[in-house]
Amino acid sequence: MAGPKSKALFERGRKVLIEGVSSASRGPATFGGAPRYMSHGQGARLFDVDGREYIDWMMAFGALPLGHAHPKVVETIAREAARGTHFATALEVEVEVAEMLVALLPHVDKVRFANTGTEAAMAAFRLARGHTGRRKIIKFEGHYHGWWDSVLINTNPYPPTLLGHPNDPIRIPDSSGIPEEAWKDTIVVRWNDVEALERAMALHGRDAACVVTEGVMSNMGVIPPKPGYLQRMQELCRQYGALFYLDETVTGFRLAAGGCAELYGLEPDIVTYGKALGGGLPMAMIGGRDEIMAGLEWGKVLHFGTHNAGRLALHVTKVMLETMLAEDQAGFRRIKNLGKAMTDEIRKLAKHSNRHGMVVQGVNSMFQIFFTDQPEISDYRDFCSHVDRAKFRDFALRLMDKGIYMNPSATLHSLSSIVHTEADITATAAAMAEVLEEMP
Ligand SMILES: Cc1ncc(COP(=O)(O)O)c(C=O)c1O
Repeated sequence: MAGPKSKALFERGRKVLIEGVSSASRGPATFGGAPRYMSHGQGARLFDVDGREYIDWMMAFGALPLGHAHPKVVETIAREAARGTHFATALEVEVEVAEMLVALLPHVDKVRFANTGTEAAMAAFRLARGHTGRRKIIKFEGHYHGWWDSVLINTNPYPPTLLGHPNDPIRIPDSSGIPEEAWKDTIVVRWNDVEALERAMALHGRDAACVVTEGVMSNMGVIPPKPGYLQRMQELCRQYGALFYLDETVTGFRLAAGGCAELYGLEPDIVTYGKALGGGLPMAMIGGRDEIMAGLEWGKVLHFGTHNAGRLALHVTKVMLETMLAEDQAGFRRIKNLGKAMTDEIRKLAKHSNRHGMVVQGVNSMFQIFFTDQPEISDYRDFCSHVDRAKFRDFALRLMDKGIYMNPSATLHSLSSIVHTEADITATAAAMAEVLEEMP
């Protein structure tokens, strides 16, 4: 339960902020009441205003591969802030970071910087439509690409009776205020199902500007792609002339230096990155091959932004890249090993006392626990039908009382950073064991 100072802040905050916060996922919708108001972070730890300490496995939804207040990040921000926070002009560091990204990502010849994953996705969809002259977007059930009208459909876990036939999912916008025109050209397809995709491509492929996918499904817990599935998707895109758009907002600079494209051997036409890219500051990018990215030139497809390529964020992005890539990418090896070690520990717990039906799924540094009657969760429909989200929330809230911070939403996931330690894993597993004993 939130402490007295958090509760008091929530009472104050809800008078002037919607639900006391600035994104629904941080407020009572997720925490069931007052959230814990955080005061500061250090390394792998978060501290709340009541003086409680947490091992942070959420890391700002994955924006912090270097953890909290990494000395290099702090030093860089202090140094650069003293030289001016933002100019909205061309910058040397902008060229430097773009060069680093292009050198690292074989499928990217050019990049354009934005601030958030949503903004980058909006530009990417407009670019895909501009480049191909086609209107339709093919997206997948349960995949989230930001809160833009055209793709904010079928991203929530709905009751199975609302989903429709797997060959023809019922399209459900996830918010009021989204006009039908915004998503009339968005086709929704079941993910991890080659036949469903082949059918959808036969019907819509020639009108599709792009097929957009998360490489690992990251907004319904963690669901890896079936072997060969993403490769087949890429092939079908080439066959029908639709752009293959890999949304690496979550997976970029987390699962591998080259994201899911590297992990699964893909050559996407367009990628977007956010979250980890900025090392804790708002930074996102759209990347792709020259002939596609050229569509963003002046007079073709428009993408603006006062805060694009913010200099503080670019300097921190550079530090993040240098730190993670040093010693032959030791940072990526470290977060992968830690993520796998945590996953193994949870698996042991699940085996030891499985009266709760606990399953853990992970890819490298990301993992999520499902309370389910199934041996695995392999797509959105499985998630909607077989995951006990209330139980996960109870589990996560109890863990918080023991100083372990995981987001209580089963649709999200946990992840390791370079500053987590073996001791954090041991402490987390011990707290989980206690919670599993206590839970009804
Ligand atoms: C796959 C994916 N794409 C895009 C976004 C949107 O990013 P942002 O929250 O930075 O707008 C998210 C956010 O969670 C995401 O998970």
